[in-house]
Amino acid sequence: MSIRIGIVGCGSVSQRGLLPHLSAEDVKDKVRLAAICDVVEERAKACKERFNADEWYSSYEDMLSKAGLDAVTIATPIQLHYEQALKAIRAGVHVHLNKPMTLTVEEADTLLNERDRAEVKLVASPGIAFRKDIERVRSMLKDGIVGKIYWVRTGATAEGHEYEDFRKPGDLVVAIDPSWYYKRGGGPVYDMGIYALHLITGVLGPAMRVTAMSGIGLKRRIILGKEVEVEMDDNTVMLLDFGDSIFALLHSAFCMGDGEPFSGLHIAGSDGVLKLEHGHIEVWSRKLESWHYIEEPSSRLPYVSGVHVKLPEAHIYSDIMHLIDCILNDKEPVISGEHARHVIEIIEKAYLSAKTEKTQHLQTSFQLKPLKEW
Ligand SMILES: NC(=O)c1ccc[n+]([C@@H]2O[C@H](COP(=O)([O-])OP(=O)(O)OC[C@H]3O[C@@H](n4cnc5c(N)ncnc54)[C@H](O)[C@@H]3O)[C@@H](O)[C@H]2O)c1
Repeated sequence: MSIRIGIVGCGSVSQRGLLPHLSAEDVKDKVRLAAICDVVEERAKACKERFNADEWYSSYEDMLSKAGLDAVTIATPIQLHYEQALKAIRAGVHVHLNKPMTLTVEEADTLLNERDRAEVKLVASPGIAFRKDIERVRSMLKDGIVGKIYWVRTGATAEGHEYEDFRKPGDLVVAIDPSWYYKRGGGPVYDMGIYALHLITGVLGPAMRVTAMSGIGLKRRIILGKEVEVEMDDNTVMLLDFGDSIFALLHSAFCMGDGEPFSGLHIAGSDGVLKLEHGHIEVWSRKLESWHYIEEPSSRLPYVSGVHVKLPEAHIYSDIMHLIDCILNDKEPVISGEHARHVIEIIEKAYLSAKTEKTQHLQTSFQLKPLKEW
């Protein structure tokens, strides 16, 4: 059986990543690119032709009601994710959400309740749970390589989406205006910081408190040749409390980063220090005879092989194929909506903390997947 999938949003992430992956020959026995949808008709039509989708739509509601989908991946601006996921779930369609799942915990609660009521599967990117380097860091920390953990430093900072090579003025298919990243509901934390938040909570588990400072660095940006007013904070720094005096510092901004835009980790403890950067693990520890140790865990992600290894956004393809696997084999997703909800609460409360100048307590939680389970 082949799962009939639809894609809503034929923008940068879809054209560079999702469409090439999901139209590849080797996925056809598991997943069929049944329909694609974009409000810009020319874009939807061009992508249907280029990636051999069965149908194209300019209305999401039409795609949901007419295309006979089993699953949808939501690749529209962040501000639309909640509403579009809710519509899919209520239509009995399984959902993959590009990050973030929603903007608020209230919306996340509604989605997860509706998911359970409709008995559909939901996978929310980014699927940090499958990364071998993170699994390895967790196991090293469990074995006490750094001793008692004191602090962790992480973050995800990169220049804004106006600098993506992909977006070119002129041609409607690729002249995709990313101004929405600078409007309410956009910003680097929902877009990028979310990777660092999934990473750090994927290693340490749920956080207990957050405090933050946040603001707008550049008040105006030039996007596809036009001046755009920045309405959403583009510079946020958080402090997180994981309990037992374990604290973390996390940055997320749309500016030049520090060489590891997608969240490295620096963990300091009573007996050692561990650094995870670009998939390498480097340790200095009193617990090691050699004192210093470097390891390069496999960067292989589940479901990613052959042509998919080299295609952009392979981690999102892996998350989507995890959803397909869970549908086909009636499994519960390991990349859980509950983890995504906890991260969303951290973001929501970080902004609240910055506004009120008060530390916020976190209420939500999630279960880390057992170590070495698969
Ligand atoms: N750009 C990246 O590098 C990147 C990487 C990973 C994940 N993501 C995530 O992917 C999602 C999309 O980001 P992007 O950068 O591709 O955005 P984008 O702005 O490049 O594309 C969004 C597309 O959605 C279409 N759209 C807008 N409203 C719509 C509607 N109501 N119905 C159907 N289509 C609609 C737009 O016309 C546009 O083609 C976001 O959640 C983002 O966080 C982006």
